[in-house]
Amino acid sequence: MELRLDGKTALVTGGSAGIGKGIAKSFADAGANVMITSRKADKCEAAVAELAETASGEVSYVAAHIGHLDQAERVMGETIERFGSLDILVNNAATNPWAGPMVDCDIPRLDKTYEVNLRAPLQWTQIARQMWMGEHGGSVINIASVGGHHTSEALGVYCMFKDALMHMTRQLAAELGPKMRVNCIAPGLIRTDFARVLWDGPRGQMIADQLPMKRLGEPSDIGEAALFLSAAGSWMTGHVMDIDGGECVKISGELPLEEG
Ligand SMILES: NC(=O)c1ccc[n+]([C@@H]2O[C@H](COP(=O)([O-])OP(=O)(O)OC[C@H]3O[C@@H](n4cnc5c(N)ncnc54)[C@H](OP(=O)(O)O)[C@@H]3O)[C@@H](O)[C@H]2O)c1
Repeated sequence: MELRLDGKTALVTGGSAGIGKGIAKSFADAGANVMITSRKADKCEAAVAELAETASGEVSYVAAHIGHLDQAERVMGETIERFGSLDILVNNAATNPWAGPMVDCDIPRLDKTYEVNLRAPLQWTQIARQMWMGEHGGSVINIASVGGHHTSEALGVYCMFKDALMHMTRQLAAELGPKMRVNCIAPGLIRTDFARVLWDGPRGQMIADQLPMKRLGEPSDIGEAALFLSAAGSWMTGHVMDIDGGECVKISGELPLEEG
């Protein structure tokens, strides 16, 4: 089955780089009109030019900070004005201002992570519902992380909000059906700038070797999953898809069985 999105409009936050750009490419190549948004206009402009090379739908951008409510309204208003609908919203942009034990995290960085990684996906979904999806229907995809399933030495705060985002997905799916579907993708380690410190150099290969799929993820791996959730999956809602090369099922930390 070829997955197509002709005539659909998708909005991808953080669409100018990394996973967001990978998702935008999957959608645009499948025929969707795609609006990307991120803070820096020059980054968005460069991404639009790159995406347009293969797109069969149109690609455009509005620069915005996802933490600012008025900007969410502006981005969605411009998306609907430009393309005539808002069928798919991908809450992808996120931040990680704190690395270290959760117990030492200061309040400004805790608040920043909450604002961008949790409050913004809820508010963007609320506004998408008010402006289009509540009446016409639509699909929301939240980008969490498999980190949300585990504890972590340095990423505890980030992982806590990603776990909360997975729960928010289930809660909103229960509240917003049947007009709106809300699903989530939890990526494993993907080779983007955001995660470079985790995969650059020999460490990356060591992590890859431990995975059942023996390689790290690429933005296109998440793009494929987002396309499936958008062009198929019409009875799927409240679901979290771990797209992680098998990280969550790898065999680790097991004591050897005693012989005899
Ligand atoms: N990479 C991984 O291994 C990995 C694993 C699990 C989950 N994730 C999740 O995947 C998502 C994307 O991560 P990534 O690795 O693709 O990151 P990335 O390469 O750093 O790209 C982040 C994108 O978000 C935009 N952005 C950042 N803060 C923003 C804000 N406040 N408002 C609007 N746009 C903002 C950036 O552009 P501007 O600078 O122009 O704003 C950029 O387009 C995040 O939710 C992340 O938590 C990543």
